[in-house]
Amino acid sequence: MNANKWVRQIHRWLAIAFTVTVIVTFIALAQENPVVWVSYVPLLPLALLLFTGLYLFALPYAAKWRRGRTVAGGR
Ligand code: HEM
Repeated sequence: MNANKWVRQIHRWLAIAFTVTVIVTFIALAQENPVVWVSYVPLLPLALLLFTGLYLFALPYAAKWRRGRTVAGGR
């Protein structure tokens, strides 16, 4: 599996982890004595989603840029 596929897989599973932490946050804040620090936990997977997501976003442009630099390129 190449690096791009790895980043896509990591992004997918981070999405699941992030969703779980958001649900846990809802539950934690709904308690009579809310456990407020739990609401910061989603920020870690969200930050990682941001970086892997920006990488995925850049991939097609990077591929186009590389194609444009080949001998027969520009088309
Ligand atoms: C935080 C900033 C985020 C950025 C910049 C970002 C960006 C992207 C990009 C560029 C793609 C690839 C789209 C494509 O060309 O196919 C993608 C796929 C995806 N994103 Fe994000 N994303 C972010 C956050 C999230 C979050 C919060 C979730 C869900 C909780 C999420 C779930 C997914 C899923 C499930 C895919 C499809 C993965 C696959 O193809 O297997 N992303 N994202």
